[in-house]
Amino acid sequence: MAETPDNIYHVFDRMLPRADREAALKQRSHVFWLFGLSGSGKSTLALALERELFKAGRFAQVLDGDNIRSGLNRDLGFSDADRSENIRRIAEVAKLFAQAGVVTITSFICPKEELRALARETIGADDFSDIYVKASYERCQERDPKGLYKKVQAGQVKQFTGKDSGFEEPTAPALIIDTENETIEQSVQRLLDYVLPRVEA
Ligand code: PPS
Repeated sequence: MAETPDNIYHVFDRMLPRADREAALKQRSHVFWLFGLSGSGKSTLALALERELFKAGRFAQVLDGDNIRSGLNRDLGFSDADRSENIRRIAEVAKLFAQAGVVTITSFICPKEELRALARETIGADDFSDIYVKASYERCQERDPKGLYKKVQAGQVKQFTGKDSGFEEPTAPALIIDTENETIEQSVQRLLDYVLPRVEA
């Protein structure tokens, strides 16, 4: 018999409750949604935060381009439609991690308010904090950690965020981490100060 939505709901009813998983892990799960331009420092901060949380006895997982765009989303490029599908899938995965009791840190450009709203809606507002990793296009271009901005200038990369594909400044993110005016250590500390109380059991 084909599975109907009714049957699917029965499966959800029989799953181990999220609260039991969180109790086993001695933490509350939450999705910390880091976003900002390429080169703004998202991945560096996400990975540092993951390590600091681990030291503090919290079980966290980073989702970023390295483990998502190279696998699950390797069929997607950088058109508006593909970015939207990219974020939709990432939000669904983050939601599953949160349901499994895991503190989840995502690190994607997520360039439009509409995409951040989609992530919030998919994950649920109570489980979601959007954190803007802020640095200007010019500063990111100076840093150019992957040599991507150079390729953009040489016309070798199209639909580049901040150049020929738009990036919307957020209106009211939960937190802004200004990597142009803070050291990495200061940024990590500010992130930890925000995150730790939200994941306490
Ligand atoms: S998005 O907009 O949220 O769907 O983008 P994201 O999944 O975060 O992927 C961004 C990384 O892909 C690399 N890359 C590009 N970024 C922006 N525009 C274009 N055209 C592009 N092509 C490749 C880039 O290295 C981004 O990684 P980060 O870590 O942000 O530098």
